[in-house]
Amino acid sequence: MTDQVTRSDAPATVSKIAAVSGDKAGAAEEQTFYYPPNDLVETSNIMAYVREKGFDSYDELYEWSIKNPQEFWADMARRLVDWYQPWDTILDESNAPFYKWFVGGKINIAYNALDRHVKTWRKNKVALIWESEQGETKTFTYYQLWQQVNRWANVLKAMGVKRGDRVTIYLPRIPELPIAMLACAKVGAMHSVVYGGFSVEALHSRIQDAQSRLVITADGGWMNGKVVELKKITDEAIRTSPVVETVLVVRRTGHEVTMQPGRDVWMHDLLALPIASPKFETEVMDAEDPLYMLYTSGTTGAPKGLVHTQGGYQVGIATTLHFVFDIKEDDVYWCAADPGWVTGHSYIVYGPLILGATQVMYEGAPSYPYPNRWWSIVEKYGVTVLYTAPTAIRGLMRFGEAWPNRHDLSSLRLLGSVGEPINPEAWRWYYRVIGKGRCPIMDTWWQTETGMFMITPNPTTPLKPGSGTKPFLGIEADVLNEEGQPAGPDEDGLLVIKRPWPAMLRTIYGDPERYVRQYWSRFPGLYTAGDAARKDEDGYFWVIGRIDDVIKVSGYRLGTAEVESALVSHPAVAEAAAIGLPHEVKGNAIHTFVILRQGYEASEELAEELRQHVGKVLGPIARPEAINFVASLPKTRSGKIMRRVLKARALGLPEGDLSTLEA
Ligand code: WTA
Repeated sequence: MTDQVTRSDAPATVSKIAAVSGDKAGAAEEQTFYYPPNDLVETSNIMAYVREKGFDSYDELYEWSIKNPQEFWADMARRLVDWYQPWDTILDESNAPFYKWFVGGKINIAYNALDRHVKTWRKNKVALIWESEQGETKTFTYYQLWQQVNRWANVLKAMGVKRGDRVTIYLPRIPELPIAMLACAKVGAMHSVVYGGFSVEALHSRIQDAQSRLVITADGGWMNGKVVELKKITDEAIRTSPVVETVLVVRRTGHEVTMQPGRDVWMHDLLALPIASPKFETEVMDAEDPLYMLYTSGTTGAPKGLVHTQGGYQVGIATTLHFVFDIKEDDVYWCAADPGWVTGHSYIVYGPLILGATQVMYEGAPSYPYPNRWWSIVEKYGVTVLYTAPTAIRGLMRFGEAWPNRHDLSSLRLLGSVGEPINPEAWRWYYRVIGKGRCPIMDTWWQTETGMFMITPNPTTPLKPGSGTKPFLGIEADVLNEEGQPAGPDEDGLLVIKRPWPAMLRTIYGDPERYVRQYWSRFPGLYTAGDAARKDEDGYFWVIGRIDDVIKVSGYRLGTAEVESALVSHPAVAEAAAIGLPHEVKGNAIHTFVILRQGYEASEELAEELRQHVGKVLGPIARPEAINFVASLPKTRSGKIMRRVLKARALGLPEGDLSTLEA
């Protein structure tokens, strides 16, 4: 547990992390670099590119890419995706930070993910193998997926969905989720996917902010052997959303739901109609037309809808997936994230399909019904690339080596990690027990905002456990101190990106000023990520964690403000503060401090009631680990809760500068 303390609380060096993790051998004999196997390096997509460009090493290629980023990205845009019409300008910086990429280009991401493949031999290649929690499987070839998406696109169009409309999608991890997203892209509508682990209030606020007239949901979803009642949650969420005219309902669990006549329609009924033809004319979009919005928790207030566009986004994700996970024609790729988060958007729904890959998608919990579920999936489908999060690794690690050791994992050749810093202990377990020391771990640092990997190894990179290594091709990053000067080696500072990249967010939906303020104003001209980091003497980046009020719980991004407002919506609560504290498996867990209204008594039962309340309002992932009843909260003189002080107190650390604390 202690290693988490150091990770989320900035001041630590690498050796300290290893030392406090209790991983004695690691601390003492930590090898500096883990080198990738030679054959992997030699046959990698990245080495092929190094050679083709006439360079002697990857480092030379990188140097070239940051001296000529536009040339690099244009090269990728030509190679990896098809355009209806080429661009006139690679990057338009005239209205920075509202950058535009591939201006004048015409494209559609669904064309590149599906339409173009069915014109080639890939038509009958398996695109998606889906396995349900109960063990049922469904397989889609590119042709079948293309037809299905076309049928959905026809239905959406018949329901009045047009270019630029926002469609909210609230579905479990079933094939219909990527299908719905791709169908929106085909029609030219923006999708706004709300993760199935969110609940009433989270869904309501996202529908309202996006002003979605159409919502797609399911009767329910399976998780850990239980039904999550998505339709019921949707009904509650839209009770006060007059904007919603239509709810399309996918049948998944088959349990009874209430259908409101004139508003709710079963998707299978619509798909049975003649309008749902398997042919659809994909909309030709401008490169800068929006593709989707995805809500994410920020520093303050309500979650913000980050906007990604059609053109640059697909170039960015296709390039990073091609080079980092080295996707080849015969790979079986498995990203175990949920499509409802950015990892799933970029690296389940769009990236792998653009590259024409075969991928696995699994509906349920990693340890259902037993802790070998994931390993049996790897064995069953011969998964070659596995991409997951530290929290899942730590969770499965707890069950011991015997579970993975029962399975043949020899098909694996690359592993990946995302969502939060991976502690060296988990890294080494993943490397040794799952990858058998053969499979390099791609520790990819990126964000919903960045759309694509930013700091990441590639198959040629010597690795250090816990470091995302160095910026990707075309990306220049740095760590700056408070004054904006480059921090020295091993000195903590703020992570910044020094120039625009194609998959970057373009704005915050409906709030362009906030986009500028939040990301581009700390250091003018630079993108501030909101993460603390340090760079070591080899130039390797070590991301420490968020510097704002974002809590990463099991890799999921939650805002303290969301949790606090969920608590305050309970009649017993007058005031509340939420902080993240280290947790062995989840990385961080939500701890809350609550001031009760008069007439309410603190009790175990009330604490439990409040936890359940947050779960119901916001979603099970946001349910606090602890509720502490307090008489007051530390505040600044202007009335802002000092969460930093609460956190320091909870951890028994110095409380730092209290000069602004209210007397
Ligand atoms: C954190 C997830 C360390 C970081 C793709 C970032 C990481 C936030 C890593 C974004 C990593 C993500 N190492 N930290 N490999 N990947 N993070 O928007 O704090 O859900 O700012 O995107 O996750 O979270 P988001």
